Amino acid sequence: METGELLAAAAEYAATLMAMAAGGLLVMMVAYRPSLWEPYWKVRHVPGPMTLPLIGHLHLVAGRGPDVFSELARKHGPVFRFHMGRQPLVVVADAELCKEAGVKKFKSIPNRSIPSPIANSPIHQKGLFFTRGSRWTAMRNMIISIYQPKHLASLIPTMESCIERAAKNVGGQEELTFSDLSLSLVTDVIGQAAFGTDFGLSKLPVSPDTNKGDKTAGADTGVEAKTSSEFIKMHMHATTSLKMDLSGSLSILAGMLVPFLQEPFRRVLGRIPGMGDYKIDRANRTLRAQMDRIVAEREAAMEHDLLAAPQQRKDFLSVVLTARASNKSSRELLTPDYISALTYEHLLAGSATTAFTLSTVLYLVAKHPEVEEKLLREIDGVGPSDRVPTAEDLQTKFPYLDQVVKESMRFYMVSPLVARETCEPVEIGGYTLPKGTWVWLAPGVLAKDPKNFPEPEVFRPERFDPNGEEEKGRHPYAFIPFGIGPRACIGQKFSIQEIKLSVIHLYRHYVFRHSPSMESPLQFQFSIVCNFKYGVKLQVIKRHKA
Ligand code: HEM
Repeated sequence: METGELLAAAAEYAATLMAMAAGGLLVMMVAYRPSLWEPYWKVRHVPGPMTLPLIGHLHLVAGRGPDVFSELARKHGPVFRFHMGRQPLVVVADAELCKEAGVKKFKSIPNRSIPSPIANSPIHQKGLFFTRGSRWTAMRNMIISIYQPKHLASLIPTMESCIERAAKNVGGQEELTFSDLSLSLVTDVIGQAAFGTDFGLSKLPVSPDTNKGDKTAGADTGVEAKTSSEFIKMHMHATTSLKMDLSGSLSILAGMLVPFLQEPFRRVLGRIPGMGDYKIDRANRTLRAQMDRIVAEREAAMEHDLLAAPQQRKDFLSVVLTARASNKSSRELLTPDYISALTYEHLLAGSATTAFTLSTVLYLVAKHPEVEEKLLREIDGVGPSDRVPTAEDLQTKFPYLDQVVKESMRFYMVSPLVARETCEPVEIGGYTLPKGTWVWLAPGVLAKDPKNFPEPEVFRPERFDPNGEEEKGRHPYAFIPFGIGPRACIGQKFSIQEIKLSVIHLYRHYVFRHSPSMESPLQFQFSIVCNFKYGVKLQVIKRHKA
């Protein structure tokens, strides 16, 4: 056969295959139709924008990111429908209605919905975030007992030593990708506080060019650094690849469009090097293996009584393992797969969110000299400058820092949507929502609503001054970056303490300016949590205090 004929035959073969695949898909969709359209049918009375077949409104997020929810709330009111592929969400974008859904009617809306990126990721499903019912209540009660104020105060020296190490890294450079260093720092802190393990990530030099990280690490600090560098790359990948728009892996996309195709897609594509699913699968496996190893080592040490006074160890993992050993019901509750998932969840939930927030504080302060001046005055005023602040100092002596952190969280909210699901019919804002409805609260919309925050696009920490009119007049649930009600974030105080200690330490020694290579305005990726597209690149200026 001639080459031309071969090509024609191949093209015909490919066309036939594609036609068969399309036909097969159509048949499956028709067969699948009741469950495909049922979720929509049940909430069709809730207003929303025009819906495209299969992709729903995903194209809107792909184009405009989370800002689209503010636009939709303006257009359709505080309760509206948004279709994530075939799955409709009922978005609640009003402070009083968020209180109703998250607090007053918690019993009817107690669990989280499980979005496609998570359904694709078994490692995420057994943590506190996605467990349900009585298992969630039992696990939450146990974990919450760890995060008491006394325990948090006792973590200050650990946090400070990690911060000091990372700050030395800052000092050695004129310019750095601060968001990378920030992630290393908070991952080290969570490693120590949650597992009693030193990952040593913030020892590594951080290049202004994120892609050079691996090379630098390998050259300067040998095998340990290389392993750590690989670890953080995996960790970042696992966190940021859970995309909620049209840019996720193929199986995530399939999950949003035609859910029953997600698992077969994941299984097949997860084996093909180069595919997004392959990378996610690899990152999750590696991290999971690291977590399993840490858990197994600690378990063995506790069993053989190698650890001095194991009951007195207060890191998360030790407390969980001690609780498990204490009685039969705990052993049944905390099986090894749940312990690994909880441990891994801590790393995920506690690092990307806190690192993002710390980076936005530095980015925004660098952009607002008047804020920087006031902040430096406050920090310098609480001395001596080499004394580590106590938990009480953090609460009482740095009121402006408190406002700066809150305003940064409002301005760039790391978690603009909070996912919940009804377990029985419930009425919210005049709409009756059937059992199984995905109800998503929208703290990101509340944070940019001029009703709650006049001139929302202006960065003004003073709006959180407890004596100011704006703060006094605001709805108590208008600012909920850590969520709301019994299911709110368990790590709120932990992360605020860490962020404040970091800002104080850093500004005692340096100020920061935007690097000329930084884009403006900041670009984001919208995954399970918000992340920077290109990183926060800063110039470092050593302070010479009078
Ligand atoms: C700036 C830092 C952080 C932010 C903005 C943040 C935000 C959130 C939000 C919005 C939720 C959902 C709450 C809801 O449904 O009402 C949440 C839940 C959660 N967060 Fe955080 N978080 C942060 C840090 C942390 C840290 C440091 C940890 C762990 C030490 C953590 C662990 C969790 C867990 C386990 C949940 C699930 C709680 C449950 O379902 O019972 N978070 N977080």
